[in-house]
Amino acid sequence: MKGKNCLIFGGSGQIGRHLIRKLTKNDYKVVVVTRNIHQKGHIIKTQGNAGYIDIVEANIFEEDKIKGLFKKADVCVNLIGILYEKKGSSFRNIHTLFPSLLAKLCKQNNLKHFIHLSALGVSEATESEYAKSKLDGEKEILKNFPLSTILRPSVVYSVDDNFTTNFMTLLNRLPIFPLYYNGQTKFMPIHSSDLVDIIYNIISKNIYSQIIQCVGNETLTLKEIIEKLLNLIDKRRILLPVPLFFGKLSAKFFQLFPKPLLTEDQLKLLKYDNVISAKYKTNSDIGFPAKCLFENEVEKYCYMWRQGGQFSKKNNS
Ligand SMILES: NC(=O)c1ccc[n+]([C@@H]2O[C@H](COP(=O)([O-])OP(=O)(O)OC[C@H]3O[C@@H](n4cnc5c(N)ncnc54)[C@H](OP(=O)(O)O)[C@@H]3O)[C@@H](O)[C@H]2O)c1
Repeated sequence: MKGKNCLIFGGSGQIGRHLIRKLTKNDYKVVVVTRNIHQKGHIIKTQGNAGYIDIVEANIFEEDKIKGLFKKADVCVNLIGILYEKKGSSFRNIHTLFPSLLAKLCKQNNLKHFIHLSALGVSEATESEYAKSKLDGEKEILKNFPLSTILRPSVVYSVDDNFTTNFMTLLNRLPIFPLYYNGQTKFMPIHSSDLVDIIYNIISKNIYSQIIQCVGNETLTLKEIIEKLLNLIDKRRILLPVPLFFGKLSAKFFQLFPKPLLTEDQLKLLKYDNVISAKYKTNSDIGFPAKCLFENEVEKYCYMWRQGGQFSKKNNS
């Protein structure tokens, strides 16, 4: 006997892959929507046992195709998000209009739950278009389907993230690493498995809590994160505080590339601490505190960035 049917958008990403594994292991059947089944099919299919995962290829704004998928779903999870805009994929389209459409479809089809991933700090970072579009999306969702649960994670890390792994690659290659805002922006990194446990519990225990901030147990500045990563990969680098005008200049240059390392909007986001606010509940408040510690977890995979790879030994160990 299988559990609830979960319809997942953005399931091929970092959090999605972990979530599919967690849900299917626990007998949930998932339907995962992707833009390109040829590129992403094998990534999605291999996250669970045969018979538990169906993949549907669709453009997320093909309303008729998307509508049909809601008929058999009990729960919908939206994990689609972007860090920078591209032609046809604006923050407003992806973070506001699309989640609003999903919430309407959840209501029309009497789904039990809609879980949407927003981001921590979107109420505070008012200058950022990313944050503004996420916040507008939250408002639309709660208006269209009040039974929704919106999760606001701080930065999410795991072996297959775009955060620690990218930083370790850059730290390996660059002799000098620039620090914007003196590296003093604070984060509360949460491990993907902790975040996925929260989502799983919300689904399986029918928790309706509107907005939940999802964070790990530690508050670390960006500089502390970089220092921990350097220590883990056993490298010494110059961490150079750079003036904001230089940051803006480099962001202008980087955002000319298809996958920019930094954009002007990200620089605006970095101005604000990515920490919990007393206005909203946290994962601990609803009974699911994070278990993982940043350094302990990254230690498990950082050897790939150390000289000597899996056979490496840290100088100081
Ligand atoms: N990772 C973090 O540190 C973090 C922190 C805070 C909030 N969040 C939020 O959590 C959610 C999931 O994060 P994630 O890191 O797992 O995301 P991700 O890996 O960057 O992306 C998730 C999926 O979204 C789909 N997608 C990307 N761009 C799209 C576009 N232009 N149109 C349609 N679909 C698109 C892709 O699926 P297909 O290619 O299969 O279509 C992708 O696999 C996002 O909403 C993100 O904003 C993440």
